[in-house]
Amino acid sequence: MDKFVVRGGNPLLGTIKVSGAKNSALPCMAAAILTEDEVILENIPQVNDIETERKLLTSMGAEVELGYGRAQHRTHIKCAILSDPVAKYEIVKTMRASSLVLGPLIARTGIARVAMPGGCAIGGRPIDLHINGLEAMGATITQDHGYLEARADRLKGAHIVFDKITVTGTEDLLMAATLAEGESVFENCAREPEVTDLAALLIAMGAKIEGAGTGTIRIQGVSKLHGARHRINPDRIEAGTFLIAGAITGGDLNVDCCEPKHLGALITKLEQCGVKIDVGIDHVRVRSGGELKAADITTEEYPGFPTDMQAQYMALATQAEGTSTVIENIFENRFMHVQELIRMGANITISGRTATVRGKTPLQSAAVMCSDLRASASLVLAALVADGETILDRVYHLDRGYEHFEEKLRGVGAQIRRMGDVFGRK
Ligand code: UD1
Repeated sequence: MDKFVVRGGNPLLGTIKVSGAKNSALPCMAAAILTEDEVILENIPQVNDIETERKLLTSMGAEVELGYGRAQHRTHIKCAILSDPVAKYEIVKTMRASSLVLGPLIARTGIARVAMPGGCAIGGRPIDLHINGLEAMGATITQDHGYLEARADRLKGAHIVFDKITVTGTEDLLMAATLAEGESVFENCAREPEVTDLAALLIAMGAKIEGAGTGTIRIQGVSKLHGARHRINPDRIEAGTFLIAGAITGGDLNVDCCEPKHLGALITKLEQCGVKIDVGIDHVRVRSGGELKAADITTEEYPGFPTDMQAQYMALATQAEGTSTVIENIFENRFMHVQELIRMGANITISGRTATVRGKTPLQSAAVMCSDLRASASLVLAALVADGETILDRVYHLDRGYEHFEEKLRGVGAQIRRMGDVFGRK
C-alpha cells in the first residue's frame, strides 16, 4: 500500500489547478446507460473512483474509453448493448456511488441487479430512499444474497417527497424519471451543484427537466434519450481543500480553474478565520491575514457548509487561536480523522456529533492512518504544518478522489512524496 511522506513547514505559493468533480463525473457516467448513443464527457478527473465506474460499466457490456493528458480527460461511453445489467459486489464494495446505476439501469433495460453498496466507512449510509422512490415509480424490488433486484416494464412518473435530502438519491431517481411514463415531481431534493451538472447533461441528451438546483424538480418523461457531449464542473471539494492548504500554511495560493460560486460557505468561514480571500471569475486567491482565529462550523446540505470539507476544516481549526465547535449533521460517524489529529498534538474532544477544537496547538509529525477520502486530505493538511516528517498510510483512500494530489501540492512548494510498498501492492 502506498504511503505519503510529508515534511511540514513550507508556505504554499503559486497557482494550483482544480480538476473536474468526481462527484459530478460519477452520475454523469451512469447517465450514459440511459441511451444507446455515445456520450462524451470532458474534464473527467483521473482518480480511482472513475476507473471503478469504468469497470462497472464495461462489466455490463458498455464500451468506455478513458483518455487523459492530450485527450483532455475525455471519456467516450457507449451503452449500445447492456448484456449484463448487474453491478457486481466486487466492484460495488469499493464505491458506494455504484448505487447510481440502479435508476438508469431499470429505466433503460427494465431490470437491474445491484450489490448493496460499500464505499467510505462514514456511518450507516443506507439507500432506502433510492429504493422507496423507485417503488413509487412502479418498480418491484427484491433483495437476495446481498443484491437488490429491481424490475419494471416501464417506470411511471411519481410525486416523491424525500424524507431526507440525499445527493445520489436525487440523482438516481432523476435519471430514472427521464425515461418514465408521464410527469414526476420530486420535493426536498438535494440542491448540490453535482445535481445541476447531471441535469445539464440529461437535458443535453433530450430529457425534459425543470428546477434542478432547487428543492423541487419536475421531469416530463420521454421515450428515448440521445447522445451528448458535456463538460464536468470543477471539483468544489478539491478547490476547498487547496484553499485550506493555502490558509493553514500561511501561504499565497491562487486556486485556479474552479467555480467560486460553489465555494460560498467555505469562503465565508475562511474570512471569519481571518484569511484574506480574493475571488475572480474562475479562481480564488487565498493569503495569510496574520494569526488564524477560531470559527464554528455546522455541516449542512448545499449551500451550507459541506460535510466533505469538515475534516479538512478541522485541521485548520487546530491552528486557529481559540475554540472552534464543529458539528457534523450529515453523517453519524465522520470523525475518524480526529484520533489521528490528536496523535499529532491537536486538542480535540468529541461529544456525539460535536467536536470541540482548542487551538492553537503545535502539530508534530507522526505515523498516521488514512480512514476515508476526506480524512486523508485532512491529515495531509495537518502534516503540511507539522514539525518533522509525517508518514501517512493507506493513501489509497485519497487516490479514490483527488487527482495527482501530491504532484499538485509539490508544484506550489509542499514537501510531499509517495512511497510505494516494497511488494508493489496498492
Ligand atoms: C454524496 C457524496 C458525498 C457527500 C454526501 C453528502 C457522491 C458520490 N457522494 O454522498 O461525497 O459526503 O453526498 O453531501 O456524490 N441517506 C439515507 N437514505 C438514503 C440515502 C441517504 O438515510 O437512501 C442519508 C445518509 O445516511 C446521510 C444523508 O442521507 O446521513 C445524506 O446522504 P447522501 O446525500 O445520500 O450522501 P451520498 O449521496 O451517498
